[in-house]
Amino acid sequence: MTTEASRGHFSSRIGFIMAAAGSAVGLGNVWGFPTKVAENGGAAFILMYLAMVFVLAFPMLVAELTIGRYGQGNPVTSLRRVWRNNRFAPIVFGALALLAASLILSFYSIVAGWLVAFAAEPLATAVGADGLAAWLTEFSQPRNVIMTLLFSLMTIWVVSKGVADGIEKWSTRLMPILFVLFAGMIIYILMQEGAMDGLRVYLVPDFSHLNGRLIVDAMGQAFFSLSLGVGSMMVYGSYLKKDINLPKVATQVAIIDTSVAFAAGLLIIPAMFVAKHNGVEIFNAAGELISSGDLVFQVLPSMFHTMGSSGPVIAVVFFVLMVIAALTSSISILEVPVACAQDELGMSRQASSWLIGLLIAVASVVICLNFGALFGLVIDISTVYMQPLLGIIWAVVVGWVWHRNELLKELQQGNPEIADGWFWKIWPWYVRFICPVAIVAVMFVSIS
Ligand code: PHE
Repeated sequence: MTTEASRGHFSSRIGFIMAAAGSAVGLGNVWGFPTKVAENGGAAFILMYLAMVFVLAFPMLVAELTIGRYGQGNPVTSLRRVWRNNRFAPIVFGALALLAASLILSFYSIVAGWLVAFAAEPLATAVGADGLAAWLTEFSQPRNVIMTLLFSLMTIWVVSKGVADGIEKWSTRLMPILFVLFAGMIIYILMQEGAMDGLRVYLVPDFSHLNGRLIVDAMGQAFFSLSLGVGSMMVYGSYLKKDINLPKVATQVAIIDTSVAFAAGLLIIPAMFVAKHNGVEIFNAAGELISSGDLVFQVLPSMFHTMGSSGPVIAVVFFVLMVIAALTSSISILEVPVACAQDELGMSRQASSWLIGLLIAVASVVICLNFGALFGLVIDISTVYMQPLLGIIWAVVVGWVWHRNELLKELQQGNPEIADGWFWKIWPWYVRFICPVAIVAVMFVSIS
């Protein structure tokens, strides 16, 4: 068992915010959000998403961080400390979170591997290695497997370095680079011909899309984007010092995450219309915008090709940006089972990072080899079903299992006046009643 004193901790508040924002900002923001906006009536989806972040995801983010900091451990250990009179629930629910985290990482590494390939392609072309360049961008099993393994190794390497020297150091280095690259890309794209048409599609709401499906998509997106359910935020919370004001840092993380998602839309949707202006097909036969994978991996690369000599540079910057976003998220996912192996089995960080990281990489390879059957299935099981289900469990733990006074005591550390403020008057009731009911209701809509 690791004691509290020997556990790693984030060395500073800003380090934690960068790491937690790094976890939150990922493929969900730069890939998922813009494509969902494009498919679901532009700003109508943005408004529903903002509502979901505010009313559901943010209260749950505070809940997960608080469980983690109180429990000082991975989901199993933390739940055990909160749920003292139940021997089985912490193991069952903690294990469910570990499983969900592992499944998410297994498909996440595949997508991130494609991004690594697309970042390398312009370089291969530049040195005249045309065969390699074609191999990197064509969908093939060997390419998928090799690139996935490459990305998995990066994730494992950072996690094996530990909390302050690995996760915090790399998040604090990479996140500011991400922000700067993003800002530069947005300015560049908005100056291109055709971008304004995209901006209109992005920012003018089309409320005819407002239906049950849109609400479900918005909730799923908010949960995924804030890294909820699977224990990442719980584990990061466990590395937080006791003098940190939890609702405040949660607000900062949620604001950064939502701003980056919004900015990604500001980049990608206008970019699609720049592509259209340059002669690239962006609507399918039914007249709808081309969606998800095709958007990032076909439309954008074709657009970069139409941009003359600056195209390859822009392409590298864009895909490096995506890889950075993915890496700061994937480390927070691998950290969940790794923390568990350290706390529960007494394994060293090095050994557990490599062992578990490689096991999940094997799962990714199995998915690559059975892509048609498994890829979509694993995404659905982990994000559509397991994440909201785990969200309900954490809401029940905080709202019903945990003693209100102890909850208050935990939040008062770092925020002594909390009992007198509006947050404490609303939030516990919210997590107790509104969150579980709302998540069940939205899940019901999605399944029916
Ligand atoms: N939030 C990350 C993203 O937006 C994904 C993630 C999910 C990270 C769950 C950790 C846990 O891409």
